[in-house]
Amino acid sequence: MAGLKIAVFASGQGSNFQALADAVQAGRLDVTIELLVCDKPQAPVVGRAERAGIDTWVFKPKDYPSREAYETEILAELERRGIELIVLAGYMRIITPVLVEPYYGRMINIHPALLPSFPGVNGIGQALDYGVKVTGVTVHYVDGGMDSGPIIAQRVVEVADSDTEETLAPRIHAAEQALLPGVVQQIAQGKVKLDGRKVMITG
Ligand code: GRF
Repeated sequence: MAGLKIAVFASGQGSNFQALADAVQAGRLDVTIELLVCDKPQAPVVGRAERAGIDTWVFKPKDYPSREAYETEILAELERRGIELIVLAGYMRIITPVLVEPYYGRMINIHPALLPSFPGVNGIGQALDYGVKVTGVTVHYVDGGMDSGPIIAQRVVEVADSDTEETLAPRIHAAEQALLPGVVQQIAQGKVKLDGRKVMITG
């Protein structure tokens, strides 16, 4: 389906990428996934993109002198393709102003905790170690900080006393895959308005 042109950035399994690709395939998302950007050539997400017929831009960070150097190449590719929204779906790298500035308000991330609690790596394990009774997932705009941008949507996941990372992670991932495609669709429909730190969903 035509519609908003998006690029998905991912580093690993790609279950969130797959949820988006499946939603497009099922006609539930008015977007075109133009490109997968991946920093790990061996990551399973690359095969998922190939099987879905989606172009990939795969790179090795150590082939570049700096983050800014590879992001400059990525930016040129995104602009060449007219990408209107970047979705970070398990992209495990810091984003610099090279991408944040031109795409501010047009770049979102999914995080496996209820921000602003437990930003950074291993949000699931951080929440468990802290002993919270509820955790969840957050979709937010990307700013220059670590998982600190304006929050678009969140979903709560209850933590059982017996939970371990192995038992909690599947419920977090299910919540992510349920939340992310819907948020992308709301953005594609022009229903998401950013006003300072506040995000409003209309209609
Ligand atoms: C997700 O939990 C995401 O929130 C986190 O990394 C994980 C990626 O999972 N940032 P996948 O690659 O989409 O399966």
